[in-house]
Amino acid sequence: MATAADGRGNWGSRAGFVLAASGSAVGLGNIWKFPYMAGENGGAAFLIVYLAIVFTIGISVMLCEFVIGRASERSPVGAFAKLRGGAWPIVGFLGVAAGFIILSFYSVVAGWAVAYVFKSALGLLQTSDPAALGRLFGDFSSHPWEPILYHAAFMAMTVAVVIAGIEHGIERACKILLPLLFLILVALAVRSLTLPGAMEGLKFYLYPDFSKVSAQMVNGALSQAFFSLSLGMGAMITYGSYLARHENLTRATLMVTLFDTAVAFIAGLVILPAVFAFSFDPSAGPGLVFITLPAVFAKMPAGVVFAVLFFVLLTIAALTSAVSLLEVVVSYFVDQRGMRRKRSAVVAGGLTFLLGIPSSLSLGLWKDHTIAGKDFLSLMDYVGSNLLLPLGGIAVTLFVGWVILPRALEEATSRGAHPFSLARGWVFICRWVAPVAIGWILIGGL
Ligand code: TRP
Repeated sequence: MATAADGRGNWGSRAGFVLAASGSAVGLGNIWKFPYMAGENGGAAFLIVYLAIVFTIGISVMLCEFVIGRASERSPVGAFAKLRGGAWPIVGFLGVAAGFIILSFYSVVAGWAVAYVFKSALGLLQTSDPAALGRLFGDFSSHPWEPILYHAAFMAMTVAVVIAGIEHGIERACKILLPLLFLILVALAVRSLTLPGAMEGLKFYLYPDFSKVSAQMVNGALSQAFFSLSLGMGAMITYGSYLARHENLTRATLMVTLFDTAVAFIAGLVILPAVFAFSFDPSAGPGLVFITLPAVFAKMPAGVVFAVLFFVLLTIAALTSAVSLLEVVVSYFVDQRGMRRKRSAVVAGGLTFLLGIPSSLSLGLWKDHTIAGKDFLSLMDYVGSNLLLPLGGIAVTLFVGWVILPRALEEATSRGAHPFSLARGWVFICRWVAPVAIGWILIGGL
């Protein structure tokens, strides 16, 4: 099915592509970040703003990225150069930079998940005492070198998968993992929702209090949408570039968006009811998932088994996302600089590891060093997710809406093979709604 004419590698099948793109999208963003963002920003009001953004701007940007990728069959820098040239390739460079920045702290948090595989297997997490679990996470994440070891281990795994290449590395990992992750999340949601006191959390999550809506919150929801859907830095351009000509892009876009959103929503159903049932603080921030979930496991029959399985799956979900972040950087060196895949994966992975070290230390030794009021990890997240990704989104929609529209429409319908009934709405969003709304939200959030 694949047309690997140019030897860049290709997906083995359409299901493989949808799975791999979903593998990129579904990760720590859904399970770690979404619940704590919702917790910090008033629950249901955040959820509604988030959904509104995902199904207007997010889904449109994703289609843009797939279109640019497949139309050019290049990774981001080369894609813009091939389709138009001029200053446009700068957008691709920004994407490569965003990839570095995001992956650096992403790998640190993923390292926490790896560590929790071992901690749960050793039975260290078997308590539902909030204070004890909080202390455990605090001691671990502030340790000077233990989390850095796990960060290194996670980065090494990411490099290994990227070296293995497109079809055999990325695609195979996603096929088995994603359905399994989904099932276990549903099981956890059932347990969490049936805890005494869980209904408070459900109310928080589903009954909106619109006084919680603010410019910062809308900015947070926008950043989260880009982060969760893997948009704004060319990851989906890169993935689209490996896809065969005749596949239905609009359907793939819809499927990936729905799946990613469903996983985030269910993660909220797991975490937030548990937060209330155990009287944790919903605005506890980045540690939330690592503190609440063990409490839920401790209240389950065979909780240890569930805990180990869950953290293994979370690690693999993070891995399939991290791979897409590194892949953007690596494919730049491979496609544009003629570097060998292996060498560029090792170099890029090594540099990203180094950039992640200050993020890891920012929870411990460097806790008191802040830049612009943020610790280093939050700063990296802010620069990557709140600034670079939305900027990339503006660039991508303007490019499709104003610069290559006829070509883009041809690509979105696979040269007429798959009619796209919402094409006019998509074009309108690309030309006007997305650039204006993203720009406005960006400015409001500063
Ligand atoms: N979407 C992933 C997550 O939710 C993270 C991720 C992978 C990403 N690739 C990306 C974020 C590209 C932004 C851009 O965990």
